Amino acid sequence: MKYVSVTEGETRLMVSPHRPGRGPRGIGKDVFYNPAMELNRDISIAFLKAWGVGDKKVLDGMAASGARGVRIARESHAGEVVMLDLSSDAVDLIQRNIDFTDVKAQVHRDSIENHILENRYRYDYIDIDPFGTPVPFFTIPARFVSRNGVLAVTATDTAVLCGTYREKCVRRYSAVPENNWCCHEIGLRILIGYCVRETARYDRGAEPLLSYYDGHHFRTYLLIREGAKYADGSLSSLDNYRFSNFSWEPDGPTGPLWSGPLFNRDILSGLQPLGKLNQELIDTWSSECSLPPFFYDTNVLGSHTGRSPPALKKLISELEGEGHGVSRTHFSPTAFKTEADASSVLRSFDRACAGTR
Ligand SMILES: C[S@@+](CC[C@H](N)C(=O)[O-])C[C@H]1O[C@@H](n2cnc3c(N)ncnc32)[C@H](O)[C@@H]1O
Repeated sequence: MKYVSVTEGETRLMVSPHRPGRGPRGIGKDVFYNPAMELNRDISIAFLKAWGVGDKKVLDGMAASGARGVRIARESHAGEVVMLDLSSDAVDLIQRNIDFTDVKAQVHRDSIENHILENRYRYDYIDIDPFGTPVPFFTIPARFVSRNGVLAVTATDTAVLCGTYREKCVRRYSAVPENNWCCHEIGLRILIGYCVRETARYDRGAEPLLSYYDGHHFRTYLLIREGAKYADGSLSSLDNYRFSNFSWEPDGPTGPLWSGPLFNRDILSGLQPLGKLNQELIDTWSSECSLPPFFYDTNVLGSHTGRSPPALKKLISELEGEGHGVSRTHFSPTAFKTEADASSVLRSFDRACAGTR
């Protein structure tokens, strides 16, 4: 097999030849490597450092080239790193990358389901990074990650979670999506809601520490806490909503979805820029973190009112001037989150359009 060398973070890796730029996969039947997921991997290293990985045991359950697991072993100094993949070519490449980078880590050819069943409660951090949906893989890690362990979950079935395939979302996640301006936040919250319900079946709570949308995927890091009290606490943050025009109300058909915070403040304040994870993104997460779910989009407000939208900065300063909490959001460059109600938002929008206060 012919491989090429790439550098991610502080680590040089051998990977399958791939197309430059954002592309979903390697060429042909090669071991999977997606350069567009470098930020996703950077964030996992930054997260593990902020969480204080220390001597904890890490399982990269779907490792492909080992890009994530090898980087975790080299850059986060976890106590133990184990990587798995079903494909023998992937396992060979992971072993090459372990040798090439000279890190202390192990690789096994095994399924994530089987390995965790045979090693119950062994791992403090389990990474679930499948093709498409995590649903077929989630339950066993949710049951058997160690107490106060973390599950890191990627979902790339964004079209399902965002409501392009509504019925599939209902079947797969037992939740109704909404294909509107907020669909990426709704999709992320449906994914978390699914994880919370599935974890609660085993009397465990799931608390999001860091959750985001990036281009073609959703990602959430969930702290798993033992006990019915935590399970019930997590379930109490699931809600349904009704979206119309440019705003939303409780108790509608959309959901159930997670309505609690997407981030944990302590994790955010411990995050350091790393590779493609820059301070600007950390600052945006920190500023939107304490605001309620969902956001307004200046373009949607523009179509609703029949006016050209003002600059986002101007609208934000109008709302701040009225004393409302307001922030940009990582979900969209034309959107903002605020505590203000819809009528206050519309008044500020009008003033920002008119250029007066
Ligand atoms: C999207 S890739 C993982 C990418 C990798 N985490 C990275 O950051 O580059 C998914 C991988 O999961 C493997 N896989 C599929 N089903 C699996 C299972 N049940 N257990 C373990 N690995 C599996 C596939 O062979 C594939 O290499």
